[in-house]
Amino acid sequence: MRKIIIANWKMNLSITKSLEFVKKVKKTKHMVGIAAPYTFLCEMKKALAHKKIQLAAQDVARFAEGAYTGEVSAKMLKKLNCTYCLVGHSERRVYFAETDENVNEKIKQLLAQGIKPVLCIGEKASERNKKLTKKVLNKQLKKALQGVKNIDKVIIAYEPIWAISTFQKGKQKKSASLDDIMEVHKYIKNVLEKMSKSKGSKIKVLYGGSVKPSNSQEILSLKEVDGALVGGASLKVSSFNAILQSI
Ligand code: 13P
Repeated sequence: MRKIIIANWKMNLSITKSLEFVKKVKKTKHMVGIAAPYTFLCEMKKALAHKKIQLAAQDVARFAEGAYTGEVSAKMLKKLNCTYCLVGHSERRVYFAETDENVNEKIKQLLAQGIKPVLCIGEKASERNKKLTKKVLNKQLKKALQGVKNIDKVIIAYEPIWAISTFQKGKQKKSASLDDIMEVHKYIKNVLEKMSKSKGSKIKVLYGGSVKPSNSQEILSLKEVDGALVGGASLKVSSFNAILQSI
């Protein structure tokens, strides 16, 4: 099955390095996207013009236009050929106080411009320890997708916060177990189907959290996993290529 693999570069690399990276990405049957910092998008648009790699942004304003200093609108991202845009990434929720209500507004802005939102959801370690994972995800999904008409255009990325490499101490970064991923993805798909019978079942659910060449094959071969959102291992083209070629 064709999977969706999106690199999330976060606030890393440089324009020069990003263009080098793009030249070296290997061809694959899978759908590949790169979520680059805003300032790279213009050059990336040109570099990707003849490549089968989709451009993604990492965030968007919750307003359409106007006096919102520092913000970038969905319409501006559309002009830069962004196919996807991440919303509600845990780093935005943790460091920038992003709420489910903000995420909902951002999703609506993106869909109005024909950009596919990649809605990131995930529980904290403390919530997991209290067995609240499903409750947290259910709330995040319901609030972020409230009143969203074309929910089949949304992609979900399940990123348990405790499995994201940069939130972990120590050298050995652990992803969620295959059993955990399977169970949670099934749950998410179930919730989405209940929200909209005809559209919910079409929604792709990606996994993110310490995906790397040594575990990508086993994670991506799970039928419940429609793709991956890759952070740290997407910063080097050799490891990103290794992930693309592992499936
Ligand atoms: P890592 O792959 O570094 O754990 O990051 C995951 C992530 O946050 C992708 O959005």
